[in-house]
Amino acid sequence: MSLSQLVRERRSIRKFNKLPVSQELIVELLEKATELYEPGEASSWRFIYAGTPESRQRLADYMISKMKENKLVKLVPNKMMDSIAKRLAEVPASLIVVAETDPDRRKNDEIYAGASSIMQIFQLLGWERGLGMLWDTERLIQNELFFSRIGIHEGERLVGILHMGYFDKAPKGRGRTAAEKKWTVSGGDGIVQ
Ligand SMILES: Cc1cc2nc3c(=O)[nH]c(=O)nc-3n(C[C@H](O)[C@H](O)[C@H](O)COP(=O)(O)O)c2cc1C
Repeated sequence: MSLSQLVRERRSIRKFNKLPVSQELIVELLEKATELYEPGEASSWRFIYAGTPESRQRLADYMISKMKENKLVKLVPNKMMDSIAKRLAEVPASLIVVAETDPDRRKNDEIYAGASSIMQIFQLLGWERGLGMLWDTERLIQNELFFSRIGIHEGERLVGILHMGYFDKAPKGRGRTAAEKKWTVSGGDGIVQ
């Protein structure tokens, strides 16, 4: 598959089948992805992997822990919350991506962008091997309680979680905005007004 075809055809996968994902494959793809992205200095990110039933159950519990504190959600029957946690726990594997933060805005952006690049390269390499992923940045995981439970330290931030597994059917791609619609040509004697 050509690179442009790979980039075009990769889809976010939200429904995984039950085939197990091997941790060795994830490490291999992660090594390749970090190798392909060359920041030119010491790496400023780390990864937390949840692939065993126990760690998946824990991650699912952490993901819904903040939700459980919500007054309205407290009215939701326990059974329903358990079924949400069960669905999350049934995802075959998740890779949590954590980046260092830096008081210098440019440096901070650079680290975050670097971690995002690795995630995208990792998704593409995974797709080549039949592995589907969902890049998760949902509100559910954007709170201090979740950060502390997964062990994010001061001076670090959560970039996102890649939930992954094999799948039976890839969804159709959504329409994309044509590049010309986001394109301004600066004319005459000035830059954009
Ligand atoms: C930075 C980033 C954050 C994302 N966060 C979420 C998310 O929280 N929930 C979700 O369902 N999809 C998330 N996605 C996946 C996008 O919604 C997805 O890429 C989009 O629907 C286009 O589908 P495609 O990946 O199949 O082309 C995220 C993607 C990126 C790049």
